[in-house]
Amino acid sequence: MRELVNNIKNQAIASLSDASSLSELEILRIDIFGRSGKFTLASKELKNLKPEEKKEIGILINETKNTLETLFIEKKNELESNVRVWFDPTIPAIKRPQGRLHMITRAIDEISSVFEKIGFTRTRYPEVEWDYYAFGALNFPKNHPARDDWETFFIDEKDSPKYGPMLLTPHTSSGQIREMERLKGKPPIRMINLAKTYRRQSDASHIPMFHQFEGMVVDKDISVVNLKGTLDYFASNFFGKERVTRLRPYHFQFTEPSFEVDISCNVCKGSGCKLCKEGWLELGGAGMIHPNVLKAGGIDPNVYSGFAFGWGVERTYMMKEGLAVPDIRLLYSSDLRVLSQL
Ligand code: DAH
Repeated sequence: MRELVNNIKNQAIASLSDASSLSELEILRIDIFGRSGKFTLASKELKNLKPEEKKEIGILINETKNTLETLFIEKKNELESNVRVWFDPTIPAIKRPQGRLHMITRAIDEISSVFEKIGFTRTRYPEVEWDYYAFGALNFPKNHPARDDWETFFIDEKDSPKYGPMLLTPHTSSGQIREMERLKGKPPIRMINLAKTYRRQSDASHIPMFHQFEGMVVDKDISVVNLKGTLDYFASNFFGKERVTRLRPYHFQFTEPSFEVDISCNVCKGSGCKLCKEGWLELGGAGMIHPNVLKAGGIDPNVYSGFAFGWGVERTYMMKEGLAVPDIRLLYSSDLRVLSQL
């Protein structure tokens, strides 16, 4: 009996090392431990033995069983780790939803970095402003109808004896005087003021809260040439190398002369097409800072001169990206179907 058990064990160990697949291993397992497997049949013989043999052989059978079972498990693990999983590296990966910065945040970063490269300093001034900074110091006469163009939100607060009514900043031009004051009326000044602005307007192309960026340069001998050069620099660095700007005469209270700034159309390159009609697209306002504005900021207009320009961020960025947004208010909706396209 002892010999029989040892034979089964030795044969099993030999066959185990020869087994080269999981299915071969399974056949071997049935051959040994199956219902009529060799080991199972041998174990059944135990009851026919004499009592003194029974104990000894019983121990041997148990040990053999444990040894073989361990060897089976090891072999199974070995064979499984060799199984090659078929993998196709050309199948597109599963894309996980990924967040990113909002279009307006990207626009603000890009616009400020274009100006920072040529020495402009980014500024931030209050969203809740005084009439003085938004209008008064910018050469708007008291009760002048020009104030209506800005459709300002007024705050329900007592007027300041010095600064007048409190309001929501209707344009970034309010930063002009604040920057001159911050620098104590001492040019050179190169400011890029980029901020939220508020106006009482809401339709497909207007929102009550939007963003503007305002450039201002004050120094000795600053002329329209510097303004034009700066605008062309911005056009080619922000919109594309071949883009240029043109100035059209206009009127603003705080600049003299004043201009509307156009940029050459990138579809027809200036010759006129369906998008632009006559080769140019309107960007925003600009001009040479009015002497009264310099004076209000504590700067002597006989020594210094300067230029300024101010545009809407949303509009400018949509023009750059060629985005056709049917309703500008969509930019500020939290609808993922919209946001994921921006
Ligand atoms: N503040 C004007 C607006 O909101 C835009 C503007 C025009 C800004 C002329 C300027 C400028 O700096 O020189 O419509």
